[in-house]
Amino acid sequence: MENIRRPEDMQRIETPELAEAFIAEQIAAIKEQVGDKKVLLALSGGVDSSVVAALLIKAIGQNLVCVHVNHGLLRKGEPEQVIEVFKNQMNANLIYVDAVDRFLDKLAGVSDPEEKRHIIGEEFIDVFADEARKLEGVEFLAQGTIWPDILESEGGIKAHHNAGGLPEDIASRFELVEPVRILFKDEVRVVGKALGLPDNMVYRQPFPGPGLGVRCPGAITRERLEAVRESDAILREEFEKNGLEGKVWQYFTVVPDFKSTGVKNGKRTFDWPCIIRAINTTDVMEVTVEHLPAELIDHLVSRITSEVPGINRVLFDYTPKPPATVEYE
Ligand code: XMP
Repeated sequence: MENIRRPEDMQRIETPELAEAFIAEQIAAIKEQVGDKKVLLALSGGVDSSVVAALLIKAIGQNLVCVHVNHGLLRKGEPEQVIEVFKNQMNANLIYVDAVDRFLDKLAGVSDPEEKRHIIGEEFIDVFADEARKLEGVEFLAQGTIWPDILESEGGIKAHHNAGGLPEDIASRFELVEPVRILFKDEVRVVGKALGLPDNMVYRQPFPGPGLGVRCPGAITRERLEAVRESDAILREEFEKNGLEGKVWQYFTVVPDFKSTGVKNGKRTFDWPCIIRAINTTDVMEVTVEHLPAELIDHLVSRITSEVPGINRVLFDYTPKPPATVEYE
């Protein structure tokens, strides 16, 4: 697989017919590469790993071992959806790892953004490596590497870790299987659609590896993290209802670590604000702000302040990038 290149004249996969042809080719290639051996995959539920999982399930069925790590920083409903789609509907061999306490305990009291990212990344590798060590006779590791990852690593912009940054004793055991390696993101989505994955998985907005952790600035507490998760769920629900899902590039909520005075049912409150950020971009280097309809703004304020415990105020972030970055950490 190491030598696969995207042919210069490769037709872009834009139609269901081209996606079907790609799927058939890749199924044959996977069967040829792995035979009757087992393949391990870290399945986050993001587009790339989901498409890789669906392809491998078609090619080798139960010989694909998917590991879904719930690090407690996923969006509301995500682990449930991974289990529903892959285990219940596609009958995947799926190991669900509830690592919520392990991550949140390690992160307790850590306020430095880079240290938080580092802990989340390291802990993820540790949890996944633990699962890999438990499995006997797995010789292959599947990854959702896509063509821009290869270009970035070749251009020296971002290190593309072979074997996902796993420790050497684990990484050296595996040969990589990367069936969407020659595709751009939009092509991965067309293939995902043809594989029958649900729309909200295929057209999912970008979500950072450290998850909601970067949207809970400073030291993460379970209460504030829940406020991020609940407000994010309301925002996503309202965007979907208002036809904005798939139109706005990225939208999310942030709950910063300060409180302000409010009033609810005639009583004083002292709670966090919830910040809403909705942005558009083509290259992520420069970002513009989506201006939301006034009615939707009012509705979001009303729902979030009444439904999310610990929130008494809603703020809108109208800052482009530059000068602000997309995420708060
Ligand atoms: P920034 O905040 O750098 O974000 O303007 C640009 C885009 O990258 C995403 N992002 C990340 N994605 N790991 C990721 O996988 C990260 O640590 C990370 N930080 C930012 C962000 O959501 C936005 O789409």
